[in-house]
Amino acid sequence: MVDTLPSSYDDVGDAMKVMLTGATGFIGSWTIPVLTSAGHDVIALIRRPAQAATLSDLVSERGGDPERLSYVIGDLAQPELGLTESVDPDVIVHLGASFAWNLDPDVARATNVEGSLDVVRLAARHNAQLVLIGGYMLTNQTHLDELGIDLARPDDVDWAAISAKTGVYEASKIESHARAVCLATELGVTWQAIHPATLCGHSITGDLAAGQPLNDLIATVKSGRMAAIPGSRHHWLPLVTVDHLTAVITRAIEDPHAHGRELLALDDRSPSLGELINLIAVTAGRPRVRAHVPIGALRFALAVPGLRRAVPTSRESLGFIRTDRFDVTALEAFEKSFGIDRPDIHRAVEASTRAWSPESRSSILIS
Ligand SMILES: NC(=O)c1ccc[n+]([C@@H]2O[C@H](COP(=O)([O-])OP(=O)(O)OC[C@H]3O[C@@H](n4cnc5c(N)ncnc54)[C@H](OP(=O)(O)O)[C@@H]3O)[C@@H](O)[C@H]2O)c1
Repeated sequence: MVDTLPSSYDDVGDAMKVMLTGATGFIGSWTIPVLTSAGHDVIALIRRPAQAATLSDLVSERGGDPERLSYVIGDLAQPELGLTESVDPDVIVHLGASFAWNLDPDVARATNVEGSLDVVRLAARHNAQLVLIGGYMLTNQTHLDELGIDLARPDDVDWAAISAKTGVYEASKIESHARAVCLATELGVTWQAIHPATLCGHSITGDLAAGQPLNDLIATVKSGRMAAIPGSRHHWLPLVTVDHLTAVITRAIEDPHAHGRELLALDDRSPSLGELINLIAVTAGRPRVRAHVPIGALRFALAVPGLRRAVPTSRESLGFIRTDRFDVTALEAFEKSFGIDRPDIHRAVEASTRAWSPESRSSILIS
Protein backbone atom coordinates (compact mmCIF):
# COMPACT_ATOMS: atom_id res chain seq x y z
CA MET A 1 0.00 0.00 0.00
CA VAL A 2 1.31 3.48 -0.86
CA ASP A 3 1.70 5.69 2.22
CA THR A 4 -0.77 8.48 1.52
CA LEU A 5 -0.78 10.14 4.94
CA PRO A 6 1.02 13.39 5.66
CA SER A 7 4.27 12.99 7.63
CA SER A 8 4.62 13.54 11.41
CA TYR A 9 1.19 12.50 12.57
CA ASP A 10 2.37 10.74 15.70
CA ASP A 11 2.64 13.84 17.87
CA VAL A 12 -1.03 14.69 18.30
CA GLY A 13 -2.09 16.56 21.43
CA ASP A 14 -5.39 15.59 23.07
CA ALA A 15 -7.44 13.08 21.10
CA MET A 16 -10.88 14.43 20.25
CA LYS A 17 -14.28 13.15 19.14
CA VAL A 18 -14.72 14.72 15.73
CA MET A 19 -18.06 14.65 13.96
CA LEU A 20 -17.81 15.03 10.19
CA THR A 21 -20.60 16.02 7.84
CA GLY A 22 -19.82 15.26 4.19
CA ALA A 23 -17.84 12.24 5.42
CA THR A 24 -18.53 10.26 2.24
CA GLY A 25 -17.48 13.10 -0.07
CA PHE A 26 -14.11 13.59 -1.74
CA ILE A 27 -12.61 15.78 1.00
CA GLY A 28 -14.35 13.94 3.85
CA SER A 29 -13.23 10.49 2.77
CA TRP A 30 -9.61 11.69 2.64
CA THR A 31 -9.91 13.60 5.95
CA ILE A 32 -11.02 10.60 8.03
CA PRO A 33 -7.80 8.58 7.47
CA VAL A 34 -5.72 11.56 8.59
CA LEU A 35 -7.88 12.30 11.65
CA THR A 36 -8.01 8.67 12.79
CA SER A 37 -4.32 8.06 12.25
CA ALA A 38 -3.69 11.20 14.32
CA GLY A 39 -5.55 9.47 17.17
CA HIS A 40 -8.92 11.21 16.91
CA ASP A 41 -12.24 9.38 17.00
CA VAL A 42 -14.51 10.24 14.10
CA ILE A 43 -18.31 10.19 13.97
CA ALA A 44 -19.27 10.23 10.30
CA LEU A 45 -22.68 11.61 9.42
CA ILE A 46 -23.94 9.53 6.52
CA ARG A 47 -27.28 9.51 4.75
CA ARG A 48 -27.55 5.78 4.07
CA PRO A 49 -26.44 2.86 6.27
CA ALA A 50 -25.03 1.08 3.21
CA GLN A 51 -22.35 3.79 2.90
CA ALA A 52 -20.72 2.73 6.20
CA ALA A 53 -18.97 -0.45 5.05
CA THR A 54 -17.60 1.15 1.89
CA LEU A 55 -16.30 4.15 3.82
CA SER A 56 -14.64 1.95 6.47
CA ASP A 57 -12.87 -0.02 3.71
CA LEU A 58 -11.72 3.18 2.07
CA VAL A 59 -10.39 4.59 5.35
CA SER A 60 -8.42 1.41 5.90
CA GLU A 61 -7.12 1.41 2.30
CA ARG A 62 -5.97 5.02 2.79
CA GLY A 63 -3.97 4.23 5.94
CA GLY A 64 -6.54 5.36 8.52
CA ASP A 65 -7.90 3.45 11.49
CA PRO A 66 -11.49 2.26 10.89
CA GLU A 67 -11.66 1.18 14.56
CA ARG A 68 -11.83 4.87 15.44
CA LEU A 69 -14.71 5.46 13.06
CA SER A 70 -18.39 5.32 13.99
CA TYR A 71 -21.49 6.41 12.13
CA VAL A 72 -24.63 8.38 12.65
CA ILE A 73 -27.43 8.52 10.09
CA GLY A 74 -28.63 12.00 9.26
CA ASP A 75 -29.54 14.37 6.47
CA LEU A 76 -28.63 18.05 6.28
CA ALA A 77 -31.88 18.77 4.48
CA GLN A 78 -34.04 17.41 7.32
CA PRO A 79 -35.09 19.35 10.41
CA GLU A 80 -32.41 19.07 13.12
CA LEU A 81 -30.29 17.13 10.59
CA GLY A 82 -32.66 14.16 10.75
CA LEU A 83 -30.36 12.56 13.33
CA THR A 84 -31.58 9.13 14.34
CA GLU A 85 -29.55 9.05 17.56
CA SER A 86 -27.78 11.50 19.83
CA VAL A 87 -24.14 12.46 19.34
CA ASP A 88 -21.77 14.24 21.66
CA PRO A 89 -18.83 15.56 19.62
CA ASP A 90 -15.96 17.78 20.82
CA VAL A 91 -15.56 19.18 17.31
CA ILE A 92 -17.79 19.31 14.23
CA VAL A 93 -16.12 19.65 10.83
CA HIS A 94 -18.86 20.74 8.46
CA LEU A 95 -17.96 19.56 4.96
CA GLY A 96 -21.40 18.40 3.82
CA ALA A 97 -23.00 20.29 0.97
CA SER A 98 -24.84 19.80 -2.27
CA PHE A 99 -21.95 20.59 -4.60
CA ALA A 100 -22.97 20.82 -8.25
CA TRP A 101 -23.60 23.26 -11.06
CA ASN A 102 -27.26 23.99 -11.99
CA LEU A 103 -28.29 23.09 -8.46
CA ASP A 104 -32.00 23.19 -7.58
CA PRO A 105 -32.46 26.35 -5.43
CA ASP A 106 -34.69 24.48 -2.96
CA VAL A 107 -32.05 21.78 -2.47
CA ALA A 108 -29.36 24.42 -2.03
CA ARG A 109 -31.44 26.27 0.57
CA ALA A 110 -32.40 23.15 2.54
CA THR A 111 -28.97 21.47 2.43
CA ASN A 112 -26.37 24.20 2.16
CA VAL A 113 -28.03 27.06 4.03
CA GLU A 114 -30.58 25.63 6.51
CA GLY A 115 -28.50 22.47 7.02
CA SER A 116 -25.46 24.56 7.98
CA LEU A 117 -27.53 26.50 10.52
CA ASP A 118 -28.69 23.23 12.09
CA VAL A 119 -25.02 22.17 12.31
CA VAL A 120 -24.27 25.43 14.18
CA ARG A 121 -27.19 24.73 16.57
CA LEU A 122 -25.87 21.19 17.16
CA ALA A 123 -22.44 22.62 18.00
CA ALA A 124 -24.07 25.08 20.40
CA ARG A 125 -26.06 22.32 22.17
CA HIS A 126 -22.91 20.24 22.73
CA ASN A 127 -20.50 23.09 23.34
CA ALA A 128 -18.52 21.67 20.42
CA GLN A 129 -15.90 23.55 18.42
CA LEU A 130 -17.13 24.16 14.88
CA VAL A 131 -15.00 24.11 11.73
CA LEU A 132 -16.87 25.58 8.76
CA ILE A 133 -15.65 24.67 5.28
CA GLY A 134 -16.39 27.52 2.90
CA GLY A 135 -14.59 28.19 -0.36
CA TYR A 136 -11.80 30.50 -1.51
CA MET A 137 -14.12 33.02 -3.18
CA LEU A 138 -15.35 33.90 0.31
CA THR A 139 -11.95 35.47 0.95
CA ASN A 140 -12.08 37.52 -2.27
CA GLN A 141 -13.25 40.92 -1.01
CA THR A 142 -13.24 42.42 -4.53
CA HIS A 143 -15.63 39.69 -5.68
CA LEU A 144 -17.91 40.18 -2.64
CA ASP A 145 -17.88 43.97 -3.14
CA GLU A 146 -18.75 43.55 -6.83
CA LEU A 147 -21.72 41.42 -5.78
CA GLY A 148 -22.67 43.94 -3.09
CA ILE A 149 -22.38 41.39 -0.26
CA ASP A 150 -21.57 42.39 3.30
CA LEU A 151 -20.98 39.02 5.00
CA ALA A 152 -21.86 40.54 8.39
CA ARG A 153 -25.37 41.50 7.16
CA PRO A 154 -26.82 38.49 5.29
CA ASP A 155 -30.41 39.72 5.81
CA ASP A 156 -29.64 42.79 3.67
CA VAL A 157 -28.66 40.70 0.63
CA ASP A 158 -31.02 39.72 -2.20
CA TRP A 159 -29.80 36.10 -2.44
CA ALA A 160 -31.98 35.25 -5.44
CA ALA A 161 -30.29 38.07 -7.36
CA ILE A 162 -26.85 36.79 -6.27
CA SER A 163 -27.79 33.28 -7.47
CA ALA A 164 -28.71 34.70 -10.86
CA LYS A 165 -25.21 36.20 -11.12
CA THR A 166 -23.00 33.49 -9.61
CA GLY A 167 -25.10 30.35 -9.95
CA VAL A 168 -27.06 28.67 -7.17
CA TYR A 169 -24.21 26.65 -5.61
CA GLU A 170 -21.84 29.58 -5.14
CA ALA A 171 -24.57 31.89 -3.82
CA SER A 172 -25.71 29.21 -1.35
CA LYS A 173 -22.14 28.74 -0.10
CA ILE A 174 -21.69 32.47 0.49
CA GLU A 175 -25.07 32.78 2.20
CA SER A 176 -24.47 29.66 4.26
CA HIS A 177 -21.11 30.94 5.50
CA ALA A 178 -22.40 34.41 6.30
CA ARG A 179 -25.43 33.12 8.20
CA ALA A 180 -23.51 30.33 9.98
CA VAL A 181 -20.90 32.78 11.30
CA CYS A 182 -23.63 35.19 12.50
CA LEU A 183 -25.51 32.37 14.26
CA ALA A 184 -22.35 30.85 15.77
CA THR A 185 -21.43 34.26 17.17
CA GLU A 186 -24.95 34.78 18.54
CA LEU A 187 -24.97 31.33 20.20
CA GLY A 188 -21.44 31.64 21.58
CA VAL A 189 -20.03 28.75 19.51
CA THR A 190 -16.25 28.52 19.16
CA TRP A 191 -15.81 28.50 15.40
CA GLN A 192 -13.19 28.74 12.69
CA ALA A 193 -13.43 28.48 8.91
CA ILE A 194 -11.22 26.94 6.26
CA HIS A 195 -11.68 28.14 2.70
CA PRO A 196 -10.32 25.66 0.14
CA ALA A 197 -9.33 26.51 -3.41
CA THR A 198 -10.51 24.13 -6.14
CA LEU A 199 -9.46 20.61 -5.21
CA CYS A 200 -6.61 18.90 -7.02
CA GLY A 201 -6.20 15.15 -6.62
CA HIS A 202 -4.01 13.46 -4.02
CA SER A 203 -0.39 14.41 -4.67
CA ILE A 204 0.80 10.77 -4.58
CA THR A 205 -2.07 8.67 -5.90
CA GLY A 206 -3.75 11.37 -8.00
CA ASP A 207 -7.13 10.24 -6.66
CA LEU A 208 -9.75 12.81 -7.66
CA ALA A 209 -13.44 11.96 -7.46
CA ALA A 210 -15.72 12.26 -10.45
CA GLY A 211 -17.77 15.44 -10.28
CA GLN A 212 -14.83 17.48 -8.95
CA PRO A 213 -14.30 20.52 -11.20
CA LEU A 214 -10.66 19.64 -11.99
CA ASN A 215 -11.75 16.13 -12.90
CA ASP A 216 -14.15 17.62 -15.47
CA LEU A 217 -11.35 19.80 -16.87
CA ILE A 218 -9.04 16.78 -17.19
CA ALA A 219 -11.82 14.87 -18.97
CA THR A 220 -12.33 17.74 -21.42
CA VAL A 221 -8.61 18.11 -22.21
CA LYS A 222 -8.09 14.34 -22.50
CA SER A 223 -11.02 14.04 -24.90
CA GLY A 224 -9.51 16.75 -27.13
CA ARG A 225 -12.54 19.06 -26.68
CA MET A 226 -10.49 21.93 -25.21
CA ALA A 227 -9.88 23.96 -28.36
CA ALA A 228 -8.87 27.18 -26.59
CA ILE A 229 -7.78 28.36 -23.15
CA PRO A 230 -10.51 30.37 -21.39
CA GLY A 231 -9.30 33.86 -20.50
CA SER A 232 -5.86 35.42 -20.79
CA ARG A 233 -2.49 34.13 -19.66
CA HIS A 234 -3.18 35.88 -16.33
CA HIS A 235 -6.26 33.78 -15.56
CA TRP A 236 -5.91 30.86 -13.17
CA LEU A 237 -7.92 28.29 -11.28
CA PRO A 238 -6.30 28.30 -7.83
CA LEU A 239 -5.80 24.75 -6.56
CA VAL A 240 -5.05 22.87 -3.35
CA THR A 241 -4.26 19.16 -3.16
CA VAL A 242 -6.60 17.04 -1.08
CA ASP A 243 -3.73 15.77 1.11
CA HIS A 244 -2.56 19.32 1.81
CA LEU A 245 -6.11 20.35 2.75
CA THR A 246 -6.71 17.35 5.04
CA ALA A 247 -3.43 18.09 6.85
CA VAL A 248 -4.58 21.69 7.35
CA ILE A 249 -8.03 20.60 8.61
CA THR A 250 -6.52 18.10 11.07
CA ARG A 251 -4.00 20.57 12.49
CA ALA A 252 -6.62 23.34 12.61
CA ILE A 253 -8.89 21.42 14.97
CA GLU A 254 -5.91 20.77 17.27
CA ASP A 255 -5.09 24.48 17.44
CA PRO A 256 -6.41 26.06 20.65
CA HIS A 257 -6.03 29.61 19.26
CA ALA A 258 -8.32 29.28 16.27
CA HIS A 259 -11.54 30.99 17.37
CA GLY A 260 -12.82 33.28 14.62
CA ARG A 261 -9.95 32.44 12.25
CA GLU A 262 -10.68 32.16 8.52
CA LEU A 263 -7.88 30.29 6.81
CA LEU A 264 -7.48 30.27 3.04
CA ALA A 265 -6.20 26.87 1.85
CA LEU A 266 -4.87 27.74 -1.59
CA ASP A 267 -1.57 26.91 -3.27
CA ASP A 268 -0.34 30.17 -4.78
CA ARG A 269 2.10 28.16 -6.89
CA SER A 270 -0.86 26.79 -8.88
CA PRO A 271 -0.21 27.23 -12.60
CA SER A 272 -2.04 29.71 -14.80
CA LEU A 273 -5.05 28.16 -16.54
CA GLY A 274 -3.10 27.92 -19.80
CA GLU A 275 -0.21 26.15 -18.04
CA LEU A 276 -2.67 23.89 -16.23
CA ILE A 277 -4.44 22.87 -19.43
CA ASN A 278 -1.14 22.21 -21.16
CA LEU A 279 0.27 20.29 -18.19
CA ILE A 280 -2.78 18.02 -18.44
CA ALA A 281 -2.49 17.84 -22.25
CA VAL A 282 1.21 16.93 -22.22
CA THR A 283 0.74 14.37 -19.40
CA ALA A 284 -2.16 12.83 -21.34
CA GLY A 285 -0.20 12.79 -24.61
CA ARG A 286 -2.50 15.32 -26.28
CA PRO A 287 -1.43 18.28 -28.44
CA ARG A 288 -0.83 21.57 -26.63
CA VAL A 289 -3.63 24.15 -26.65
CA ARG A 290 -2.33 27.53 -27.78
CA ALA A 291 -5.33 29.74 -28.60
CA HIS A 292 -7.10 31.82 -25.94
CA VAL A 293 -10.78 32.78 -25.87
CA PRO A 294 -12.08 35.68 -23.74
CA ILE A 295 -14.26 34.65 -20.78
CA GLY A 296 -16.92 37.16 -21.99
CA ALA A 297 -17.14 35.36 -25.35
CA LEU A 298 -17.65 32.03 -23.58
CA ARG A 299 -20.38 33.52 -21.37
CA PHE A 300 -22.08 34.86 -24.50
CA ALA A 301 -21.83 31.50 -26.30
CA LEU A 302 -23.25 29.70 -23.26
CA ALA A 303 -26.27 32.02 -23.33
CA VAL A 304 -27.07 31.15 -26.95
CA PRO A 305 -28.87 27.78 -27.27
CA GLY A 306 -27.33 26.94 -30.66
CA LEU A 307 -23.78 27.63 -29.45
CA ARG A 308 -24.02 26.20 -25.95
CA ARG A 309 -23.14 22.65 -26.93
CA ALA A 310 -19.87 23.77 -28.52
CA VAL A 311 -18.56 25.15 -25.20
CA PRO A 312 -17.18 22.38 -22.99
CA THR A 313 -17.78 24.17 -19.69
CA SER A 314 -20.60 25.66 -17.64
CA ARG A 315 -21.37 29.31 -16.94
CA GLU A 316 -20.97 28.74 -13.19
CA SER A 317 -17.53 27.20 -13.46
CA LEU A 318 -16.28 30.27 -15.37
CA GLY A 319 -16.78 32.33 -12.21
CA PHE A 320 -13.93 30.44 -10.53
CA ILE A 321 -11.41 31.32 -13.24
CA ARG A 322 -9.87 34.55 -11.99
CA THR A 323 -7.03 36.97 -12.43
CA ASP A 324 -7.14 37.99 -8.72
CA ARG A 325 -4.23 36.93 -6.53
CA PHE A 326 -4.85 35.81 -2.94
CA ASP A 327 -3.02 36.53 0.30
CA VAL A 328 -1.61 33.24 1.62
CA THR A 329 0.63 34.62 4.37
CA ALA A 330 -1.68 33.20 7.08
CA LEU A 331 -1.52 29.74 5.48
CA GLU A 332 2.27 29.90 5.22
CA ALA A 333 2.55 30.83 8.90
CA PHE A 334 0.12 28.02 9.80
CA GLU A 335 2.09 25.46 7.75
CA LYS A 336 5.30 26.58 9.43
CA SER A 337 3.98 26.40 12.97
CA PHE A 338 2.43 22.94 12.43
CA GLY A 339 5.15 21.46 10.22
CA ILE A 340 2.87 20.91 7.24
CA ASP A 341 4.68 20.22 3.96
CA ARG A 342 3.04 21.56 0.86
CA PRO A 343 3.02 18.99 -1.96
CA ASP A 344 4.27 20.03 -5.39
CA ILE A 345 1.09 21.17 -7.15
CA HIS A 346 2.43 20.57 -10.67
CA ARG A 347 3.26 16.94 -9.84
CA ALA A 348 -0.17 16.56 -8.22
CA VAL A 349 -1.84 17.76 -11.43
CA GLU A 350 0.24 15.22 -13.39
CA ALA A 351 -0.74 12.48 -10.91
CA SER A 352 -4.42 13.49 -11.13
CA THR A 353 -4.24 13.37 -14.92
CA ARG A 354 -2.60 9.94 -14.94
CA ALA A 355 -5.08 8.58 -12.38
CA TRP A 356 -8.09 9.94 -14.24
CA SER A 357 -10.43 7.30 -15.55
CA PRO A 358 -13.92 7.52 -17.05
CA GLU A 359 -14.99 5.15 -14.28
CA SER A 360 -13.72 7.27 -11.34
CA ARG A 361 -16.19 7.06 -8.51
CA SER A 362 -18.02 10.21 -7.48
CA SER A 363 -17.68 9.30 -3.82
CA ILE A 364 -18.82 6.45 -1.71
CA LEU A 365 -21.89 7.19 -2.38
CA ILE A 366 -23.75 5.27 -4.85
CA SER A 367 -25.42 2.78 -2.65
N1 LIG B 1 -14.13 20.24 -4.05
C1 LIG B 1 -13.83 21.54 -4.20
O1 LIG B 1 -13.19 21.95 -5.20
C2 LIG B 1 -14.22 22.51 -3.12
C3 LIG B 1 -13.63 23.79 -3.12
C4 LIG B 1 -14.02 24.68 -2.13
C5 LIG B 1 -14.92 24.31 -1.16
N2 LIG B 1 -15.47 23.05 -1.19
C6 LIG B 1 -16.43 22.68 -0.13
O2 LIG B 1 -15.92 21.55 0.55
C7 LIG B 1 -17.00 20.75 1.04
C8 LIG B 1 -16.81 19.32 0.62
O3 LIG B 1 -16.64 19.26 -0.78
P1 LIG B 1 -16.38 17.87 -1.55
O4 LIG B 1 -15.61 18.25 -2.77
O5 LIG B 1 -15.87 16.85 -0.64
O6 LIG B 1 -17.89 17.54 -2.00
P2 LIG B 1 -18.53 16.15 -2.46
O7 LIG B 1 -17.49 15.17 -2.82
O8 LIG B 1 -19.58 16.50 -3.45
O9 LIG B 1 -19.22 15.61 -1.12
C9 LIG B 1 -20.37 16.22 -0.60
C10 LIG B 1 -20.70 15.54 0.70
O10 LIG B 1 -21.87 16.18 1.24
C11 LIG B 1 -22.81 15.15 1.52
N3 LIG B 1 -24.19 15.65 1.39
C12 LIG B 1 -24.78 16.22 0.33
N4 LIG B 1 -26.07 16.47 0.60
C13 LIG B 1 -26.29 16.02 1.87
C14 LIG B 1 -27.43 15.99 2.71
N5 LIG B 1 -28.62 16.45 2.31
N6 LIG B 1 -27.28 15.44 3.95
C15 LIG B 1 -26.09 14.96 4.37
N7 LIG B 1 -24.98 14.97 3.62
C16 LIG B 1 -25.09 15.49 2.38
C17 LIG B 1 -22.56 14.07 0.50
O11 LIG B 1 -23.15 12.87 0.99
P3 LIG B 1 -23.61 11.68 -0.01
O12 LIG B 1 -22.38 10.85 -0.24
O13 LIG B 1 -24.67 10.96 0.76
O14 LIG B 1 -24.11 12.33 -1.28
C18 LIG B 1 -21.04 14.05 0.52
O15 LIG B 1 -20.56 13.36 1.66
C19 LIG B 1 -18.28 21.40 0.50
O16 LIG B 1 -18.81 22.23 1.50
C20 LIG B 1 -17.78 22.24 -0.67
O17 LIG B 1 -18.63 23.35 -0.89
C21 LIG B 1 -15.13 22.13 -2.14
